[in-house]
Amino acid sequence: MDLIVERPPAATRSGPMATGKFPVSIRSISELADDIRAFELVDPTGMPLPAFSAGAHVDVHLPSGLIRQYSICSDPLDASRYVVAVLRDPSGRGGSVGMHQLTAGDHLQISAPRNHFPLADTSHHVFVAGGIGITPIRSMMNAALARGDMFQLYYCTRSPERTAFLDELNPLVQAGIAVVHHDDGNPANGLDLSAVLREQPAGAHLYYCGPSRFMDAVDASSTHWAPGTRHCERFSAPSSGTAATRAAAEIPFEVCLARCGKTFTVPPGKTIVQILRENAVDVDVSCEEGYCGTCMTRYLDGEPIHSDSVLDEDDQQEFVMICCCRAKSKTLTLDL
Ligand code: FES
Repeated sequence: MDLIVERPPAATRSGPMATGKFPVSIRSISELADDIRAFELVDPTGMPLPAFSAGAHVDVHLPSGLIRQYSICSDPLDASRYVVAVLRDPSGRGGSVGMHQLTAGDHLQISAPRNHFPLADTSHHVFVAGGIGITPIRSMMNAALARGDMFQLYYCTRSPERTAFLDELNPLVQAGIAVVHHDDGNPANGLDLSAVLREQPAGAHLYYCGPSRFMDAVDASSTHWAPGTRHCERFSAPSSGTAATRAAAEIPFEVCLARCGKTFTVPPGKTIVQILRENAVDVDVSCEEGYCGTCMTRYLDGEPIHSDSVLDEDDQQEFVMICCCRAKSKTLTLDL
């Protein structure tokens, strides 16, 4: 695959309630590495797809009914197609295996692109990717290249055979701005993240994506970076919630749906999504653990307790993840 060299549209954050879903067909499927396939998605009638910015993802509605999120790793200026790369994980929850059963010509429903992981408005970036976590990073890295920004990539994988985009990254490795590190599946051989992240280059922002333990390691190695300069996208839940969120899980509250005027009680041990489902209110969900962003919903009144890993402080003033948030206030009013 070619490096993307054009300047992408400005990074934006966007929420799901403005999106819905639409049909695409799979124009081609290619092998990127062992167990990693790239899926090229296009409009079935040849029309352009909605625009996206580097770091964005789409919800893919699989024929089985599962909904999964995949980062778009193709050129943000090319609205004729989205390319997503998927690692087949036989021990996962079925989404990646379902994707790998698809063939060229199949049709799918997808959401409009959403971006919880945009490139910051700064000119120096440090990217850290673990395995398939390279997919949003690839798009962001190429956007940084197009902007003429300085960046450094650290990309950790098990082996060359399991490394997507290896050929296209080789020139960056030779230029000294990318490091591709293989650990042969042994954490003892892992990249020394503490050493890599010890210094925060002036003005630099950090972006990281990968498996849960990898994310926890990057988190722990970068706590000294300035507030607001660390950005991550998870594809699994963080290791544990805070004491506040655990305590909040024991307290019931009311959820009010402003558009239909219905109010339901959310008891301890149940989520808003579960209560809505029990009351035949249809909402899109996927991970139900607060890391994918599918259930993001605007709230209109009340004091939420957030426990997701998607929303930053600004977003938290406007949105909640209804699969995992609770409320300090007696009632939380949603724009539903
Ligand atoms: S369903 Fe994934 S964040 Fe709520």
